[in-house]
Amino acid sequence: FHLYLDSADLSELKTCLPHPVVHGVTTNPTLLKRAGIGRGELPRLLQRCIELGARQVQAQVYSEDADGMLEDARELLSHFEPGQLVVKIPATRQGLAAGAQLIAQGVQVTWTAVYAPEQAHFAAQLGAAYAAPYLGRLEDSGIDGLALIAQMQALVAQRPSSGTRLLVASIRSREAYLSLLKLGVGAITIPPRLFSELLDHPATLAAERGFLADARDLP
Ligand code: E4P
Repeated sequence: FHLYLDSADLSELKTCLPHPVVHGVTTNPTLLKRAGIGRGELPRLLQRCIELGARQVQAQVYSEDADGMLEDARELLSHFEPGQLVVKIPATRQGLAAGAQLIAQGVQVTWTAVYAPEQAHFAAQLGAAYAAPYLGRLEDSGIDGLALIAQMQALVAQRPSSGTRLLVASIRSREAYLSLLKLGVGAITIPPRLFSELLDHPATLAAERGFLADARDLP
């Protein structure tokens, strides 16, 4: 199981890295804009995440057409050792074409903004590392996101030799995270603030305070 942190905000990421249960960091242009990070600054930010213990980092292409996507991917990949960077590409017609070429060259690809089970199946058919559906956004649009993701998981599981994992994004609560674990998805990306919530259970902290107080009273 791969747990990713979904953020381009280094100060936020530093509150969670390094951590033994975190596999890596995912980003996209929206997260870059939110964090005030320019394209030119992204490779350094992601390298810093690797220095902090991330095993893999993910960066998204910026272009709409396949040639532009391939050029973006080549530029991003030039800053990393093989295997460190997973290239995220929207699961559009152009994105499938570009991603298939990258996979043929041995690059790990995430097809992102996956909204239908057939798209997840394409990812497994073509040997993508990940297919990324957005649970929260599916539910925003009135769809039963968990049921749809369960269908995607079943299709991906039919092709175990592809190695493709669902990387579920747009997770907004502990309940959503737990439901996805129960579905057996291969990867989840969550915002650092939700990771902190998962790590710091209030009842565990209260129990620890009790133990510490009692430890101080011991002879
Ligand atoms: C995925 O790539 C997005 O960063 C993210 O998971 C979307 O989350 P949101 O729908 O809560 O904005």
